[in-house]
Amino acid sequence: MNATSNNPWGTGRGNGKTVLLGEHAVVYGMPAIAAGISLGASARASAAERSSIRIGEQSSVAGDDSELSRALEQVCGELGAGPHSVEVEVNLPLGSGLGGSAAIGVAVARALLAARGEQEGEARVLAGAAAWERVFHGNPSGVDAAAAYSGSCIWFTKAGGPEPMFVAAPLELAICLAGPPASTKQMVENVRQLGERRPDLLGKSLAGIEVLVKNARLCIEAGDRSALGQLMNLNQMLLAGLFLSTPEIERACAVARDAGALGAKLTGAGGGGAVIALAEASAAPLEAAFREAGFTAFSTRIAASPAAGVKL
Ligand code: MEV
Repeated sequence: MNATSNNPWGTGRGNGKTVLLGEHAVVYGMPAIAAGISLGASARASAAERSSIRIGEQSSVAGDDSELSRALEQVCGELGAGPHSVEVEVNLPLGSGLGGSAAIGVAVARALLAARGEQEGEARVLAGAAAWERVFHGNPSGVDAAAAYSGSCIWFTKAGGPEPMFVAAPLELAICLAGPPASTKQMVENVRQLGERRPDLLGKSLAGIEVLVKNARLCIEAGDRSALGQLMNLNQMLLAGLFLSTPEIERACAVARDAGALGAKLTGAGGGGAVIALAEASAAPLEAAFREAGFTAFSTRIAASPAAGVKL
């Protein structure tokens, strides 16, 4: 790395995310509900003569025509930053639908702003992360970066951006890696092409998903986990109807439901990647069932809002 030793290092973090409901529809302007998870990415950045970036074992320098160096150039350009040396650590499986790319984009944007001694601010960080994401995902809705920035539960539309959501009761989720890594760019493109061939099918599916997402918001605000689980199952059916599910995703959903999950669905772009399962209480039995079925799994919790326990 060619950071000049006297230049200060700035650091930043971005959370991974799970889309609870509404993926893909959000690209077409519908709302989605997403939440940050504790796994994510952290970055440090320092001004340098020439930009370079290292992510784990992968490294890249300005001008080498790799996606990584182009993404760094885009973020620096968006934030008005000159060349920087950037190092990133990721503790999230990439290509799994858990927002690895957005987590990195948010971490890098935060680190660059910190290295320049600038106040971060949501709009600046999200603009930087969007510049990063565009290199890898073409036309992202922005939901992943918004959840990576917020770390908690958000309501998101492309037009309105992120809005913090009231969570009445904690949501315990088991997450498993059901399929091979999948490309978000490719899956979004597949849906676009399906829409060209069958606009009626896509239109009806998107309208259905929008209703599910709006009802899910009411469930989360009321602490009705059983109803939320049913809406997740219905969302999975509509996603499968758009050819976004796989046999492994369906098997993982079945394993979770047999083990008592209130609902289970793919999360993110589909075509592989992760499945989330909502537990009635602890997610431990669902995580154990996933593991017994041969999947890599872990658990996460979407915390209740601070005011949730207060009696009005
Ligand atoms: C990916 O996490 C969510 C998608 O809706 C793509 C996007 O919103 O940019 C599939």
